[in-house]
Amino acid sequence: MTHIDERGSTMRLAGKKAVVTGAGGALGQVISRALAQEGCDVAGVDLAQEGLTRFGKTVRELGREALELDTDLTDFDDVQRAAGQVRDAWGGIDILVNGAGGGMVRPFAEMTPQEWQRMVDNNLTTVFNMTRAALPAMRGRDGARIVSIASIAALRGGRLVRNATGYAAAKAGVVGLTKALAIELAEEGITVNCVAPGAQHTPGRARDTPEVREALLAQIPTRTLGRPEDLAETIVFLCLPSAAYLTGVILPQDGGHSI
Ligand SMILES: NC(=O)c1ccc[n+]([C@@H]2O[C@H](COP(=O)([O-])OP(=O)(O)OC[C@H]3O[C@@H](n4cnc5c(N)ncnc54)[C@H](O)[C@@H]3O)[C@@H](O)[C@H]2O)c1
Repeated sequence: MTHIDERGSTMRLAGKKAVVTGAGGALGQVISRALAQEGCDVAGVDLAQEGLTRFGKTVRELGREALELDTDLTDFDDVQRAAGQVRDAWGGIDILVNGAGGGMVRPFAEMTPQEWQRMVDNNLTTVFNMTRAALPAMRGRDGARIVSIASIAALRGGRLVRNATGYAAAKAGVVGLTKALAIELAEEGITVNCVAPGAQHTPGRARDTPEVREALLAQIPTRTLGRPEDLAETIVFLCLPSAAYLTGVILPQDGGHSI
């Protein structure tokens, strides 16, 4: 059902309780704002204090409740505590967006076992930990949603950045987890989906030299970077009641880069 707020605008996720990991980061900030604009209260999970503070301010300015959860997502006990705080505050979780993660480039032949483990921990174990810890609070809710952020790297290896084996493998793990969990949770009405972004127009890209930017755009059929606001809108769409029949979907958002 669509709700109308005091300003007369429609909110498609009014009253939903959302958890966003990586909420202090570039995409997490935009995704949290989009969910709050649609009427969600949002709990942000991150290690980055400054980003978490900015996240909380944004959500509250939109008239919604925010919880800033300073948590190491690679530590299951810490994540369990964070999920417990959300459950204590709000009674349950309707939407989980697994957005935390990040890449590192290293030629495979030079990668140490520790670096490999770090990539898997940061990009895959974080998704397991948060999803596993949140699940009990999502069961029995009306149409709960899990959306994870993978990457074009999971689909096309080095098409976006070369020497990203650890990152690509970990993100491919997110793709596999999404499909398998979608089947496990389907009968409970919990959908599990995944977006696979190509290069997004985030502050990190400002460090690209003109040559790097040109080479990147030359690979992308639309010749554009992705807009984080558009990615956030895609995630909102996957969380709507009308997306109930979409599960186990891996949705590239990449200007055709993965074709
Ligand atoms: N930006 C892009 O172009 C792009 C493209 C494809 C996929 N992605 C994916 O999108 C997601 C968000 O990317 P971004 O550009 O916003 O990155 P970002 O670095 O700005 O944000 C990531 C956030 O995750 C948090 N984080 C990482 N590990 C954590 C941990 N163990 N515990 C708690 N918090 C942790 C960081 O503190 C950071 O705030 C990542 O999973 C990334 O791999 C990004």
